[in-house]
Amino acid sequence: MRAEDGDVALETLFLPFIDGSLAWPSSGGALFLRARDGWPLHQRAWPGLRCEQSFRPAADALERSGMTRADEDETTRFPLVLVLPPRQRDEARALFARAVARCAPGGRIVACLANNEGARSGEADLERIAGAVASLSKNKCRVFWTAPLDGPADAALAAQWAQADAPRPVAEGRFISRPGVFAWDRIDAASRLLAEHLPHDLAGHAADLGAGYGYLSVELLTRCPGIRAVDLYEAERRALDLARVNLAPFADRAALGFHWHDVTRGVDGAFDVVVCNPPFHAQGRADRPDIGRRFIAVAAQALKPGGRLWLVANRHLPYESELDARFGRARIVAQEGAFKVVEAVRSQQGSTA
Ligand SMILES: C[S@@+](CC[C@H](N)C(=O)[O-])C[C@H]1O[C@@H](n2cnc3c(N)ncnc32)[C@H](O)[C@@H]1O
Repeated sequence: MRAEDGDVALETLFLPFIDGSLAWPSSGGALFLRARDGWPLHQRAWPGLRCEQSFRPAADALERSGMTRADEDETTRFPLVLVLPPRQRDEARALFARAVARCAPGGRIVACLANNEGARSGEADLERIAGAVASLSKNKCRVFWTAPLDGPADAALAAQWAQADAPRPVAEGRFISRPGVFAWDRIDAASRLLAEHLPHDLAGHAADLGAGYGYLSVELLTRCPGIRAVDLYEAERRALDLARVNLAPFADRAALGFHWHDVTRGVDGAFDVVVCNPPFHAQGRADRPDIGRRFIAVAAQALKPGGRLWLVANRHLPYESELDARFGRARIVAQEGAFKVVEAVRSQQGSTA
């Protein structure tokens, strides 16, 4: 059965093993970095395959379909390392450097990217640290693989790229962030607009849904002295780890919870306040307003009667009907540029429709 249709990069990644260009290792297995689930993983057995994924919905999908997990802090080397590189180039370079480090002597790296997501530059990058690659184009994607490796072709460059996505100060030193997380090198304009409109009387126990590196939680705690606890929910573990660092100065003042969690699956709790700049993309580029609508429904369920949601969204995203259906009262507080800030209050009766 197809676990997920339409992931052509995943399909193309496995093509060299299907068409016989490459042999699957007879022992030692394979490490799959930024692994995604989908029917290509189930078209035949891939002995010893271990999957690493820091984005919770994708990690959950792999787990549900019975794939074996690999954790980022492991060091075992494999005769084969598969990579689906992320779009952000520094993050992708760091991942290639890690792929080289996790490749056993004589092993190979195989990577795949869609043509419109940097296939050529990805191939050139892998070549720079791992030497000549062979490649195959299909499905508007490019799969490329190294010769058997004995360490990096350029050790100095590999060491440099291993740090390419390292955490660092951003926004004039106010936050620690790293390439690849949402709006990694700045304060997102929509989130800033929401922060500027947060009323100072928000109080009690708050949740931050899709917390990123923690910007909105920091603003909430800074602007609203009555907030005594914040639970941050974020699907990308790399972002959540940064949020822990950015929120550390508030640990004496408020109880803090950090949850590596897929918000679309709901959250436990009864909150007085929810702040949210919901995601509107999944792994592709297409708008996915259904995800934002699901965040709104989850916020409504997680709020106490009378609890307040403060949300920012792109103006063109159609969230009004969900807000009206789930909340007793919803109003647009501000519209600026492409964004709208909304306050929605859960009705005292407690129904979320
Ligand atoms: C628009 S960004 C907002 C980030 C942060 N709150 C800010 O204001 O800068 C949305 C965040 O939601 C996260 N996200 C995406 N899908 C998610 C899901 N299903 N569950 C939880 N978080 C998710 C993304 O990783 C991203 O950090």
